[in-house]
Amino acid sequence: MYKIISGKEVSEAVKLRVSDEVKELKENGIEPCLAVILVGDDPASRVYVNNKKKACEFCGIRSLEYVLPAETKEEELIELVEKLNNDKSVNGILCQLPLPKHLDEKKVLNLIKPEKDVDAFHPENVGHIMIGDFNFLPCTPAGIMEMLRYENIDLDGKNCVVIGRSNIVGKPMAMLMLKENATVTICHSRTKNLKEVVAGADVIVAAVGRPNFVTADMVKDGAVIIDVGINRMDDGKLCGDVDFEACKEKASYITPVPGGVGPMTIATLMQNTITATRIQNGKE
Ligand code: GUN
Repeated sequence: MYKIISGKEVSEAVKLRVSDEVKELKENGIEPCLAVILVGDDPASRVYVNNKKKACEFCGIRSLEYVLPAETKEEELIELVEKLNNDKSVNGILCQLPLPKHLDEKKVLNLIKPEKDVDAFHPENVGHIMIGDFNFLPCTPAGIMEMLRYENIDLDGKNCVVIGRSNIVGKPMAMLMLKENATVTICHSRTKNLKEVVAGADVIVAAVGRPNFVTADMVKDGAVIIDVGINRMDDGKLCGDVDFEACKEKASYITPVPGGVGPMTIATLMQNTITATRIQNGKE
């Protein structure tokens, strides 16, 4: 028997906790504010940014949205980031990725002040995650850890296999699991015997960006399956990296797509905005 971990339910709980913190900050005359920058008109990015705005409204966080045309020059984007860096009323800055090809993603992300970097993408914050001593948690991996905690799934001594080595999900995910005393393996496109490695996993995190990549024959009976994939199919439907229908029969816990990891990423972003606000106001 498997249990579906509902990201909708867990994210609501996180957002309610954040809303209480926002109330308390506002009683002290502090209004948390998140600025989101979107360059270009990628439809998926537009959906993410809309969802972030809705979550801010739910939590009582002031949100600013900067939508720039796809042909925006790098200097203009840099100027905006610097303006937001210097604006004391702005606590968090997020630049939605991917950026159009002509813009240097690394340069722009590195410019965001570490204390306003609610994505935790700045090398200074990445370094803190590596050491295990951090202010900002990387949003998607931290959201996944919150789901596991909510279901009382203990990682101590477990074999955790992360499929995907991105800076946004795979690498920081491995660090957070390691901090909880898991034995962590990161698989990627060059991994040999991927099937066998995944078959030994107590917990699988799939973050490859390929629909139905994880099939039932790779899954050990009783495994916990976390699906980070959000793939848009030709019929417009969303599909994860895991063959949900077949894999669920072998799983103890499994996350759906949509309604799994996605809402958790946004809930952590809300939490990070509050952390940023506290740091900037000396209220840690
Ligand atoms: N694009 C896809 N995921 C993310 C994320 O977590 N943060 C930002 N800034 N852009 C993204």
